[in-house]
Amino acid sequence: MPSVGFGRSVQSAIYGAGAFGHRPRVPTDSSTLEAEARKVMSRRGFAYVAGSAGSEATARANVSAFDRWQVVPRMLVDTTSRDTGVEIFGRGHESPLLVAPIGVLSMAHDEADRAVAAGARDQHVTQIISTQASVPMEEIARTLRGSGHWYQLYWSSDDDLVASLVARAEACGSEAIVVTLDTAYLGWRPRDLDLGHLPFARGEGIAQYTSDPVFQRRVAERVAREAAAQGAEPERAAGSPPARPRPTPAAIGTLLSMSRNHPGRTRDNLIAKEPRAAVETFLEVFSRPSLTWADVPRLRELTSLPIVLKGILHPDDARRALDVGVDGIYVSNHGGRQVDRSVAALDALPGVVAAVRDAGSSAPVIFDSGIRCGADVFVALALGATAVGVGRPHVYGLALAGADGVAEVLRNLRAELDLQMGLTGATSVADITSDRLREAFAPTPG
Ligand SMILES: Cc1cc2nc3c(=O)[nH]c(=O)nc-3n(C[C@H](O)[C@H](O)[C@H](O)COP(=O)(O)O)c2cc1C
Repeated sequence: MPSVGFGRSVQSAIYGAGAFGHRPRVPTDSSTLEAEARKVMSRRGFAYVAGSAGSEATARANVSAFDRWQVVPRMLVDTTSRDTGVEIFGRGHESPLLVAPIGVLSMAHDEADRAVAAGARDQHVTQIISTQASVPMEEIARTLRGSGHWYQLYWSSDDDLVASLVARAEACGSEAIVVTLDTAYLGWRPRDLDLGHLPFARGEGIAQYTSDPVFQRRVAERVAREAAAQGAEPERAAGSPPARPRPTPAAIGTLLSMSRNHPGRTRDNLIAKEPRAAVETFLEVFSRPSLTWADVPRLRELTSLPIVLKGILHPDDARRALDVGVDGIYVSNHGGRQVDRSVAALDALPGVVAAVRDAGSSAPVIFDSGIRCGADVFVALALGATAVGVGRPHVYGLALAGADGVAEVLRNLRAELDLQMGLTGATSVADITSDRLREAFAPTPG
């Protein structure tokens, strides 16, 4: 849909409010956005969102990779009417933005995924719902009220659970299944490790599981097994020390968190066995490190939805993905949270795009990891991405202002991209081609 001056109208609204002394609650600059969000987030929450693997070199490389490209503007093109729209899997999207799947949004805001859904809906941006969401997918889909969403799957070691999650995603209107491949294990994340903090161990970010009938069955089986084992234990003799150590304040905090995050009344959950059993079951079934290319066709049997593989960084893996019949490729290194000193996602993008197009495929190539401003979106599109995922910035908007904050971050990116197109002589996304870029000169030493 052509936008006549979306960027300008957003800009005017901000300057107009400024004339009355109002500054944007959600900063437009990404570093300031992060710094402001940090002030309102808990220490653990900020560490979880901002943190990356190991030395965090990958996260830095993701962002600095954009500095190696420069845009070459073209002049005297009539850009009064611009179209930022793209088509993916046969549906038109008003902008080439997607909300990247982010787990444990409760770390940023109580309304978590509900607020992200409302913000995404407001900006007509498709949300990719995470398997580690803080809210069941059906509830997120209800908040989206028909504005599009995809479902991101972590392939569990429990086949029945995988089938159930995929069936639920289809039933609540997901338009694609995104399988994240880079998280067979959780990356080594010093910021979380040094706080001794794993949200899932506190029952946070496991709402897709606790709302799932197959998972609930597994939890009930575990509780029954434990009760039977306890019944078989010999009784403790009078005066002998209790089998369990005295609870510490931290342990009570964990119990409270598990009880609050488990479905049902917190008061009842505090004395129930299920919240702890749910956490333990989750930690057992979360991932399937044995997953190989041979498993992918099994997912095809489970769903008729388009399948997208997230975490592809090597051209050979992209070719392999097409060979096994997937419908889309998602270039990402998980924002640097998994592999330390990994190739920057942007540096991997051109090779993957070339592999896909040389194979004669028109499959969409989605990109994320490092998108911070409209010019970043422009560069990724010029290097062949079909659309980009917005990750951490939307979480910082969420932390600062809930649904409005998410909407504002997405709106600003859309506005900036629109102006970038207008100023460089691009009237549609199809105009954003690689000849609009050149590689930056290496800085002169000294
Ligand atoms: C706090 C956090 C949680 C994430 N959770 C998920 C997830 O549940 N599933 C997933 O596929 N990717 C997840 N990701 C990765 C994002 O989808 C995306 O790849 C990443 O945020 C892109 O990097 P950027 O935010 O630095 O641009 C998460 C990222 C962050 C920062």
